[in-house]
Amino acid sequence: MKKEIHFSSSFHWHSNFADLVDQRYRELCEASKEAIKMANARYSNYPVGAAILLENGLIIKGNNQENAVYPLSLCAERVTLFSVSSNHPGLNIRALAVATEKEISGDRLPPFPCGSCRQVLLETEFRQDQNITLLVVGSNHSVCIIEKISDLLPFAFGPESL
Ligand code: THU
Repeated sequence: MKKEIHFSSSFHWHSNFADLVDQRYRELCEASKEAIKMANARYSNYPVGAAILLENGLIIKGNNQENAVYPLSLCAERVTLFSVSSNHPGLNIRALAVATEKEISGDRLPPFPCGSCRQVLLETEFRQDQNITLLVVGSNHSVCIIEKISDLLPFAFGPESL
């Protein structure tokens, strides 16, 4: 027997996050942009900012942290995620915004999270049993909104695979 299994996902694109209806999402995008300024991107010169909105309304910021031993560096998403899970372990995450400075124009998409961050985000979503909304913020204030991390990493390895 042979079967074809399809997977599809979609996201919303807004030309400016200032137009978002949800005020907390607007603040979250702004916070991710602010977090860029404190990044330690001394080797790549590619600062990334992230901000997480918790279920109690708190916003936690983070950014990429680099080391002269390059592979020891960590992406903004995981720095922020680990900061949340070490300081607020009992609280669910509602959304994560990530922002870069990479110049984009027109309707070019901003850079999306790397595969490693998708894996860690997916396991967090799985563990809390509640969707995490991802907001990918462009240098031109555009934003892509993905409703859940599982849309970003289909056919994934997870705790249930062990
Ligand atoms: N980086 C992130 O912080 N998030 C991503 O999703 C992709 C890449 C960082 C890692 C490194 O410090 C720099 O950007 C260049 O790859």
